[in-house]
Amino acid sequence: MRSAKDFFRPLAVGAPEPLREVPWRPSRMIHFFDPSNLKMVAKIPALATKVDVLLGNLEDAVQADNKEAARAGLVEVAQTAELGDAQLWTRVNDLGSPWVLDDLTTLVTQAGERLDVIMVPKVEGPEDIHYVDRLLAQLEARAGLSRPIQVHAILETARGMASVEQICGASPRMQGVSLGPADLAANRRMKTTRVGGGHPGYLVREDPGAEPRATFQQDLWHYTVARMVDACAMHGIYPYYGPFGDISDVQACEDQFRNAYLLGCVGAWSLHPVQIDIARKVFSPEPEEVAWAQRVVAEMGEDGRGAVMIDGKMQDDATYKQCTVVLQLATQLAARDPELAAAYGL
Ligand code: GLV
Ligand code: MG
Repeated sequence: MRSAKDFFRPLAVGAPEPLREVPWRPSRMIHFFDPSNLKMVAKIPALATKVDVLLGNLEDAVQADNKEAARAGLVEVAQTAELGDAQLWTRVNDLGSPWVLDDLTTLVTQAGERLDVIMVPKVEGPEDIHYVDRLLAQLEARAGLSRPIQVHAILETARGMASVEQICGASPRMQGVSLGPADLAANRRMKTTRVGGGHPGYLVREDPGAEPRATFQQDLWHYTVARMVDACAMHGIYPYYGPFGDISDVQACEDQFRNAYLLGCVGAWSLHPVQIDIARKVFSPEPEEVAWAQRVVAEMGEDGRGAVMIDGKMQDDATYKQCTVVLQLATQLAARDPELAAAYGL
């Protein structure tokens, strides 16, 4: 185990100082694109005005014979595209693949200044993060980078799930974690054949007596998302719901995103432009919620101590703290998004 005293030392001579806090930037939607697809790449400057994060995907969904073109395409985007305020992330190939070493080496040395976060798929335990951590430090030193690149793990194996707390705390580079429901389902031997979302067979049924007996579909991902949120909160990093594969089912996508938002997630992946607006809507607090939070904080005073009744509802230190969570998010988003600033009156 590394001593706490050494935790924030660079892992290679000449590498930038590790971060002490994850810098907050909006990341409500992490929009995936295939950098080997020229049609998609041509849309990047327009998309950059609409999304919080653009992610050049090199892993699954990019065919093996396109892996090098995707890597080169991403370097080109990083070096030339006008991205405004949008962050640029990548998802590299998994650590056992023949491509990942070149993914990391090429991207850090040729696009490192522009790359904010590297998403590592199929993370199994803290040892995977330690490997990436040291390698990135070496590459950052070689590239002369002035700030460290952050790391984001995808939870998509049973062992990764079982080690999620150690993964989140494995390095000061850890920015966040996404749920990867498709790979996780396969790895756990769940019997679903879809990318995220619910399943009509996963239900509870009303007791015998009533006819017909009502059924209620349950959330397959509740345990997983809740555990991921706790692990992230405990280590001061950010949790995300991952992909929702049924692009045509915008309603269920919105529900899945909102469940994740209410449980503590800060964003989700968008796989198609239609999911960008869903994520923006869901992961930005509702104006009415913000107005209520402002009212509670105003009526309780600056220190939030004691108890007051507002509209028949008891407010105390704990509700004050919940309201400040909503207000802090609203204030942070409003600083970047004039439409939200107007809607919140901030
Ligand atoms: C994402 O990568 C997933 O497997 O769901
Ligand atoms: Mg996956």
